Amino acid sequence: MFRAIKGKILAIESSCDDTSAAVIVDGVVMSNVTAHQIVHAEYGGVVPELASRKHQKNILPVVKKAIKDANITKDQLDAIAFTRGPGLLGSLIVGVTFAKAFALALNIPLIEVHHMHAHVLAHFIEEPFPAFPFLCLTVSGGHTQIVLVNAYNQMTVIGSTLDDAAGEAFDKTGKMLGLPYPAGPEIDRLAQKGNAIYQFPEPKIEGLNFSFSGLKTAILYFIRDELKSNPLFLKLEMNNICASVQHRIATILLSKLENAARQHQISHLAIAGGVSANSTLREGLLALCQENNWTAHIPAFEYCTDNAGMIAMAAAFKFQDKIFSGQEVTPEPRLIF
Ligand code: KG4
Ligand code: ZN
Repeated sequence: MFRAIKGKILAIESSCDDTSAAVIVDGVVMSNVTAHQIVHAEYGGVVPELASRKHQKNILPVVKKAIKDANITKDQLDAIAFTRGPGLLGSLIVGVTFAKAFALALNIPLIEVHHMHAHVLAHFIEEPFPAFPFLCLTVSGGHTQIVLVNAYNQMTVIGSTLDDAAGEAFDKTGKMLGLPYPAGPEIDRLAQKGNAIYQFPEPKIEGLNFSFSGLKTAILYFIRDELKSNPLFLKLEMNNICASVQHRIATILLSKLENAARQHQISHLAIAGGVSANSTLREGLLALCQENNWTAHIPAFEYCTDNAGMIAMAAAFKFQDKIFSGQEVTPEPRLIF
């Protein structure tokens, strides 16, 4: 239906540590260029000041490449879209200011996008698209949400984390295991060489909300106790520990998603956000859907982690409805859903 969408939109994403630009033409993402920042690895987490500085350096070449890769010129653009929030203020400022200046110079409208809406709408970049209503488990470094999606512009959060996000659970575990930041992809890689032989607790949280802080403490004590009796424990058991932690995080996520599907009687389930790149989570969702005769929707890897393609997709829906922002728009680190 939305392939009837018209317009050429440049989208910019700079909410955290990736500078990304994409061009969407008539509802089709034609380019999606991302500059990853490796500077944070040695600090074990994103350093906001360093992130903003890197965005400043990266934004122009990334935008230029996105326009070139889409085979258009800047004068053909109909609108400029950007992530307004949530995210790191210094990072958002770079993308928002660039977008505002570019739109002003080209005399075309501005479209603000909510980063978490965009993760959900990433499912409309490539077919097969989910049918409404569907549930989207959005799992990233900063968020863990179950979203009930009734339409492109009608979504409600029906479950979220009370403490750490799923990505944080991966990253903090990685820190305890001495793995580089962000640890999610590395834990995933090592887990595939091991078996989930260690039992970590599943939190008892009411309703559709999540909690990962108990798991984090359990892993910390487990490692401390095992190292007392065997100083080589981490070295010898790294793959099995990764497989066990990954298994538990995936089961916590999937059991809540399953409950949500039953409660709301919804048979189309999707995952989104950086953690949706995780192999155990992807396999688990497929198995859950197969058992229940439900439909699973898993985005391509490039649209799981932060990317401007998803911002462009979300902006295309807004362009269709002529929902624009004025030059007075400001970044909003805690933009409400
Ligand atoms: O959506 P995203 O790129 O950025 C945020 O908006 O936070 O998500 C980043 C998070 C990080 O915590 C990273 O460790 C995690 O996604 N991640 C993974 C995998 N790939 C990225 N976690 C588990 N398994 C993966 N394969
Ligand atoms: Zn994200």
